Amino acid sequence: MLNIVIFGAPGSGKGTQSERIVAKYGINHISTGEVLRAEIKAGTELGLIAKGYIDQGQLLPDELIIDILASTLDSFKESKGVIFDGFPRTIAQAEALKQMLAERGQEVSIMLDLDVPEDELMTRLIKRGQETGRADDNEETIKKRLVVYHSQTSPLIDWYKNDGKYQHINGLGTMEGIFAEIAEAVDKI
Ligand code: AP5
Ligand code: MG
Repeated sequence: MLNIVIFGAPGSGKGTQSERIVAKYGINHISTGEVLRAEIKAGTELGLIAKGYIDQGQLLPDELIIDILASTLDSFKESKGVIFDGFPRTIAQAEALKQMLAERGQEVSIMLDLDVPEDELMTRLIKRGQETGRADDNEETIKKRLVVYHSQTSPLIDWYKNDGKYQHINGLGTMEGIFAEIAEAVDKI
C-alpha cells in the first residue's frame, strides 16, 4: 500500500502533482477541497455548510471533514493506496488519519511538503481565479487562507517529522521538474 500525504500551502501544487502521482502509481486520490466544491455545486446541505467556511478562507470543523474522509476511504475497493490532498490540515486530522489507517492495518508511507514562496502562491492563485473563477481565489480570501495555513496547518510539518514521514520538496520550478523530485522520493520508500 502506498499512502501519500501531499502537503503545502494554498496554491503550492497539491492538485497538480496529485494528478501526476495518480497516473504513475495508480493509486486513488482524495482531495477534500474537490469533494466540498462538488457538494457546493450539487447544492447539498453539506455544500451549503462548506460554502460558508470556504468563502471565508476558514477550515471546516475537524469532525465533519474526518467523517467525509472515512466514508471516501471506505468507497475505495482493491486500492493500491491513496493520495491525501488537502487532508490532514490540523493535528487532530493527522491523528485521526493515523488511527483510521491503523484500523485498516496501514500507515502513511510519506508526507510530501511542497515548499513554495508566498509571493509565488499569490501569483498562481490570482491567475487561477481570473481563469477559472474559483470563488476563494481572490486576494482577500487568499490572504485569509494563508493565515489559516500558517496558524493551523503548518504545525503538521513538525508533527510528520516526529512521525518519521516528512519529505521536503522544492515546489518552485516546472511541474515536470517538481514531479521528478517527488517520484525520486516515492521510489525510495
Ligand atoms: P483546497 O481545495 O484543498 O485548497 P488549498 O489548500 O487552498 O489549495 P489549492 O487547491 O488552492 O492549491 P493546490 O495546492 O492544490 O495547488 P494547485 O495544484 O491547484 O481547500 C479549499 C478549502 O476547502 C479550504 O480553504 C477549506 O475551507 C476547505 N477544506 C479543504 N480541506 C479541508 C480540511 N482537510 N479541513 C478543513 N477544511 C478543509 O495549483 C494552484 C495553481 O498553480 C493552478 O492554477 C496550477 O495550474 C498552478 N501551478 C501548479 N504548479 C505550478 C508550477 N510548478 N508552476 C506554476 N504554476 C503552477
Ligand atoms: Mg487543490
